[in-house]
Amino acid sequence: MRLAQVLFTQGFGARRVCAGLVAAGAVRIGGRVVDDPGEEFATEGLVFEVDGVAWAFHVPAVVMLHKPAGYECSQKPRHHPSVMSLLPAPLRQRGVQPIGRLDEDTTGLLLFTDDGQLIHRLTSPKHHVPKVYQVTAKHPVSDEQLQRLRDGVVLDDDPALVAALAAERTGVWTLALTLAEGRYHQVKRMLAAVGNRCEALHRSDFGALRLPTDLPAGAWRWVDQAVC
Ligand code: URA
Repeated sequence: MRLAQVLFTQGFGARRVCAGLVAAGAVRIGGRVVDDPGEEFATEGLVFEVDGVAWAFHVPAVVMLHKPAGYECSQKPRHHPSVMSLLPAPLRQRGVQPIGRLDEDTTGLLLFTDDGQLIHRLTSPKHHVPKVYQVTAKHPVSDEQLQRLRDGVVLDDDPALVAALAAERTGVWTLALTLAEGRYHQVKRMLAAVGNRCEALHRSDFGALRLPTDLPAGAWRWVDQAVC
């Protein structure tokens, strides 16, 4: 692929802008400045530097973010900055979107991609992708509450029972809840439905992916698409 096209596909701006970056000597490959926008490179395993920052070629883009509290997943945030502001400009420019949403005050694993089919596969209720939430409750978590979460509770917008795939106590006030769907405020509403209250919420797992312990809040990392 021509180098200007490589940069274009990876979110470095319009074709003209990418050709200009290359011609200006901003791009290095293998330690060599490449200033011909038309020079061809094999994209598999390609690593290039733009203004001294290394990028690996990815199609599609799939990344994970350790979402901190105080960020909204909406594209048009109203009260807090958007999670998009935690991603670098090339990822934003190539159109990555959050895969599902977390509330402003929820922390933990949030995935993004520019692959619409992947978003559909991971968020469609048909596919039952399990998500694990670590919940801190206001009141001690009882066996009866855990059983009701597993058996299913009625939420206010739907008479059908909504059940957790798993609900395990992890401490007096804490539990791990595994859900197959992603309804609006689902964890908070399920906790309320069993007479408790969610005081803090953290997503630790999404499908086969677990939030790495060495990824600090606010930081992002590439994800191997084969794992999703
Ligand atoms: N359930 C909630 O209530 N909030 C989240 O952010 C995610 C799941």
